[in-house]
Amino acid sequence: PKVTIVGAGNVGATAAHIIASKNLADVVLIDVAEGLPQGKALDMMHMRSVEKFTVHVTGTNDYADTRDSDVVVITAGIARKPGMTREDLLGVNAGIMKSVIGQAKEASPNAVFICVTNPLDVMTTLAFRESGLPAERLMGMGGVLDSSRLSFAVCEKLGCEPAAVEAWAVGAHGEGMVCWPRFTTVDGTPITELMDEAAVAEVVQRCVKGGAEVVAHLKTGSAYYAPGASIAKMVEAILGDTHEIMSVCAHIDGQYGIDDLYMNVPVRLGRGGVEEVVEFDLDDEELAALRASADSVRAGLANLPE
Ligand code: NAI
Repeated sequence: PKVTIVGAGNVGATAAHIIASKNLADVVLIDVAEGLPQGKALDMMHMRSVEKFTVHVTGTNDYADTRDSDVVVITAGIARKPGMTREDLLGVNAGIMKSVIGQAKEASPNAVFICVTNPLDVMTTLAFRESGLPAERLMGMGGVLDSSRLSFAVCEKLGCEPAAVEAWAVGAHGEGMVCWPRFTTVDGTPITELMDEAAVAEVVQRCVKGGAEVVAHLKTGSAYYAPGASIAKMVEAILGDTHEIMSVCAHIDGQYGIDDLYMNVPVRLGRGGVEEVVEFDLDDEELAALRASADSVRAGLANLPE
């Protein structure tokens, strides 16, 4: 299979590295910066004999080289710096997303598309509107990363191993993020039974602020190792047609009482993309929080330039 990654910056290149290391697919890195995707691709090819993968990584500035990709990942755009929210990136990144999605779709009309550029939910919606792609073949990566940050916070708090934890973070990939402690389990037991309310609130905050915590350390940009790994996980589920359920920024069409909106929800992934939005059995409070998160995405959408 062939995976194109648009944007050979920190997130795009890290995703390419992990996809190649796992031998999932040939990877084409494309960027507007001349030489950047070529140089990083060659560097990764030099790693081939060390890591013993057989796929190829190539770099280009020409969409013709991305033709007939199975999956297209879009990471083109600016990242936040200290003091910025993801929502602050909207103006610049909307222009970039508009220029990328049409060219990428023309080269690979049958691909499954994964948007990564922030603010994620708004950028994925923009890509949907601009491209006319069927909703099942266009999604965003946010919830896998947010859930992995929640899992990390739980592991740190309880001293358990990641393999024992199933964590669910959903909703907007931004200030309106929602965690589901009742569905977040350690060896099958909900964390609400393993820690008191204050501790639950603490791990939830650690998850919601996880990205900002990384930005505060780095100062120069935002996270890319966990985002890269999260992209690779989704690519693996799609190419492998695994039907795995994970938190994905998908088109919600009536589920949870939310209409026509892109946001992270549990989704079953397969070769055709989003197979199903899975509805968890939420209580009234959880449902209200998810709908409030949807409202925060709608507020962002109102800021999209015409
Ligand atoms: P970066 O600055 O390292 O890389 C961005 C790359 O995009 C640069 O190489 C730039 O030349 C390229 N680019 C800009 N305009 C382009 C265009 N029109 N066509 C092709 N390439 C273009 O940034 P980084 O850290 O890789 O982040 C990329 C984006 O991903 C940001 O918007 C960031 O906020 C977002 N992000 C999203 C996450 C998520 O969970 N959804 C997680 C981490 C980052």
